[in-house]
Amino acid sequence: MIEGNGLADNTVIEKKHLMDRTGFMPPGTVNRFGPTSPMSEGFVFSLRWKMALSFSVLFPLVASLLFLALLRYQWFFLSQEGNKRVQSLAVNLAVNARNPLLAQDDLRFGPIIESVSLDREVVYAYLTDHQDKILYHSDPGRIGEVLADGVPGPGKGIIQAAIPIVIEGVHVGTAVVALGADHIREVMMSTAIGLLFPLSLGTALGVVGIFFLTGIHVKRVERLEEAVRALGSGDMTVRVSDNSHDEVGRLSRHFNEMVEQLHTARRQIERNFKETISALAAAVEAKDAYTRGHCDRVGRISVAIGERLHLDESQIKELELAAILHDVGKIGVEEGVVGKIGPLTAVETDKMKGHPEIGARILNPLSSLHKVGLYIRHHHEHFDGSGYPDGLKGEEIPLASRIILLVDAFDAMTTTRPYREALSKTETLERISKGTGTQFDPHLVELFHELDREGVVEAICREVG
Ligand SMILES: [Fe+2]
Repeated sequence: MIEGNGLADNTVIEKKHLMDRTGFMPPGTVNRFGPTSPMSEGFVFSLRWKMALSFSVLFPLVASLLFLALLRYQWFFLSQEGNKRVQSLAVNLAVNARNPLLAQDDLRFGPIIESVSLDREVVYAYLTDHQDKILYHSDPGRIGEVLADGVPGPGKGIIQAAIPIVIEGVHVGTAVVALGADHIREVMMSTAIGLLFPLSLGTALGVVGIFFLTGIHVKRVERLEEAVRALGSGDMTVRVSDNSHDEVGRLSRHFNEMVEQLHTARRQIERNFKETISALAAAVEAKDAYTRGHCDRVGRISVAIGERLHLDESQIKELELAAILHDVGKIGVEEGVVGKIGPLTAVETDKMKGHPEIGARILNPLSSLHKVGLYIRHHHEHFDGSGYPDGLKGEEIPLASRIILLVDAFDAMTTTRPYREALSKTETLERISKGTGTQFDPHLVELFHELDREGVVEAICREVG
């Protein structure tokens, strides 16, 4: 078996490249909002349409009510004017009829009534005596008719005035004049027709104006919505610029404050996470400081392989953490075994072989590092099933674990250990090639050689030191 897995590795406390590259939240952090888009919500009436439609209904309704109120007022006004006019005509008729009544000059009634009837709006006019007998009527057929119940009231659509004629305290007759209400209806109709076009035009323009004005205000809400979506996607740089003092402006400022607080909280979480990883790495280093830089190199080369395999961002993060902490279980291995100068006894070897499981148990309470713990548990499984602790083989072994096994072995062989000098890179690569298919995944070995030929491996080793 190629070495590199049995001794304590040194761990670099500050994992700069890890944090700088990712700027990430701890693995397992889930975006509660998820990828959302307007289309995913199905078709709905937007706020703009709802407001526009609401105003489009309300605006004509209010305009119609105003229109009806105007016509009602005009009807009232014209009726009042009609009453005044018919009263005036009846009073004139009564005054003009006084002398003929006093003189009982029947021949003069006709001209008096006819003069009143010349007004085209007068429907009828007549004079009665003190016994309500019609002395003269604009309708000649009714002359001589006796009104048994007195002067009747006006019919429908008629404005009537009946003025008693009193001479020296004696009721001698009644002057009656009636006007038709048709002219009022005609005036109102012409008013309605005259108002209809400007009112319709005004309503239409009002609806269009409301639609566009609503759009201006709703646009601000839409900007806020876009900002919330961006925040939900993890963009902590998003801010809403709205300095107005209305509800949307206040909401925008509250949103900005909330994002600022979230950003601060996130930085704190990331800082805590870095400190946790650093503490774990430091604990491994404290166990055996001989292989300083090993975990960091394993982490970075593993990431290079993961990127070449086009793993997604979360997989890369988990791979990197597992690579950095792959030997964290050595914390729990008995003192004197880890870092021992010289070969391990069979008992000591068995104790050392327990470190992958111990490492997994250490990370087990951290739910966000569950997968990382799994990868650590299997980082000593061999491709042919001869590894430990579970004897997994081939693709039963998590990909991250296979990557870590290969890189861990490479780095261990190329660094000086307590019991031997570092091997040359050529010899190391030869040993890795020999382990292809038995200890190592052939495809990963191929990728590793590719990265080596491109100088990626050497660059990382030089950078970490
Ligand atoms: Fe290990």
